[in-house]
Amino acid sequence: MWREEVKLPKGSTLQENRKVDVVVVGGGITGITTAYLLQNEGLNVALLEANEILNGTTGHTTAKITAQHDVIYDELIGHIGVEQAKLYYEANDNALHFMKDLIEKENIDCQFSTQDAYLYGATLEFDHRIHKEFRAYEKLNIPCDFKTSLPFQFDIRAAAIMKNQAQFHPLQYLTHLAKQFLEKGGVIFENTVANDIEEGTSPTVITRDGHRISCQHVAICTHFPFYDGAGFFYTRMYAKRSYVLAAKTKQKFPGGMYLGADQPTHSLRSATLNGEEVVLIGGEGHKVGQGINTEYHYQSLQRFAEENFNVLSYPYRWSAQDLITIDKIPYIGKLKESKENIFIATGFKKWGMTHGTVAAQLITDLIMQRKNPYEEVYKPSRFHADPSIRYFLRQNLDVADHFIRGKLDLPKKSVEQLEKGEGNIIYVNSKRAGAYKDEGGKIHCVDTTCTHLGCEVNWNAGDSTWDCPCHGSRFSYDGTVLEGPAKTPLKTINLNDEESTQ
Ligand SMILES: Cc1cc2nc3c(=O)[nH]c(=O)nc-3n(C[C@H](O)[C@H](O)[C@H](O)COP(=O)(O)OP(=O)(O)OC[C@H]3O[C@@H](n4cnc5c(N)ncnc54)[C@H](O)[C@@H]3O)c2cc1C
Ligand code: FES
Repeated sequence: MWREEVKLPKGSTLQENRKVDVVVVGGGITGITTAYLLQNEGLNVALLEANEILNGTTGHTTAKITAQHDVIYDELIGHIGVEQAKLYYEANDNALHFMKDLIEKENIDCQFSTQDAYLYGATLEFDHRIHKEFRAYEKLNIPCDFKTSLPFQFDIRAAAIMKNQAQFHPLQYLTHLAKQFLEKGGVIFENTVANDIEEGTSPTVITRDGHRISCQHVAICTHFPFYDGAGFFYTRMYAKRSYVLAAKTKQKFPGGMYLGADQPTHSLRSATLNGEEVVLIGGEGHKVGQGINTEYHYQSLQRFAEENFNVLSYPYRWSAQDLITIDKIPYIGKLKESKENIFIATGFKKWGMTHGTVAAQLITDLIMQRKNPYEEVYKPSRFHADPSIRYFLRQNLDVADHFIRGKLDLPKKSVEQLEKGEGNIIYVNSKRAGAYKDEGGKIHCVDTTCTHLGCEVNWNAGDSTWDCPCHGSRFSYDGTVLEGPAKTPLKTINLNDEESTQ
């Protein structure tokens, strides 16, 4: 939906080896803001993007700009203490003000508006948690309010309100930054997949097509880091997918941004689309590859929408995913303490509008050798013992469970039984395989063993993709990698050479 209303600047295609100061990889909010800030510092920056810029999670967000990151501050105080929790809030609040000031100063037309952010609980359990969260706001001196009702017909028990947050059109804002970056001499290479890094005092980024770019610093803003550097990020993060509906409603939206903390969570804000107001209704999050059925998630959202609004139509719907770290705090900074010139920014827990900006500022300061007050909070090498170990073990037990269960999961259909537009698991020569019959009747058959670490991928009917339940890699129906950590496509199987059996 966001892409409809912007004219994106076109990148060029990488054809020669270029020598640059900084290579930024990833053309979402994090990569573009980082490239913009570094180019403003007078450095020579090249931005590499695997597809087109702003087509990853940033192109499919709900774009609330807020430091209200679900129920988190009470937990943060318990895990990292009041001072560090205050820094977490301050980093995000500063990012919001940085964006607001830039939008005002450069007169960026991007539907920016100041809104209060409501975090509400409708059940007894979340009534209790919202009260605790509100007390955490007070302890951290966050400008806030408390209510027991919302400004529209919806029964709740408690709402903690963070004052003066914001919402905007993310692509109108980021297109402006990308154009400024290009005007100041930056270069964007689209359709350029970074595949590896050769480390050293002058690291070299190597693309899938074999191009090499030497530089002084690399900023990895690819969501899942395409280069892990033995940081084992796939054991320390998991991917969560969520769904969004844009609904035209009979009644006018009362303003404000809303997030229900109860499960399943629901998010609400308004936006203007082709001159008309729509309500963005998000939620139904689940670990990637572990959803019930994509259509089921959209239908649940639709039921929620129709119970609470007079819906006229749904002009758009989409889904996207984001990464969550084991202690819920993003990894921003040096890939490893020993690696002075490779930086990562990931694990934004669906709060990347402020965190992508925090990351861009922090990485810029580290490259410019300036002190940044938030370095310790986000340091990727941290390990907060208590919650981290619990999440770490749960995450890796879950992976082990899916690894085994996937191998035992029996095929459900024969290739002949597939309808047009259907994907399913079949047997090919007594081995599990995945087949999709496209609208023209052509069968696309792949080996369902994920090329990352060997779990079995599951069919996602809503997006026609193969999704891995272990670390969230996604592949198109023909096996092409859509999201990492996997780098290699699923093996394709030619059914003419093999015999399909049930
Ligand atoms: C449904 C949903 C709603 C959300 N709502 C909000 C919200 O209201 N507010 C908020 O703050 N946050 C929200 N978020 C989170 C936010 O959208 C993300 O955290 C943020 O967009 C991540 O930005 P990014 O730049 O890090 O990643 P992306 O936007 O995904 O960009 C990463 C880019 O890297 C590219 N890439 C990957 N691998 C390579 C490679 N090897 N070589 C070259 N390029 C590569 C990808 O193609 C992609 O374009 C939401 C997320 C979801 C899923
Ligand atoms: S993403 Fe790790 S095994 Fe599939």
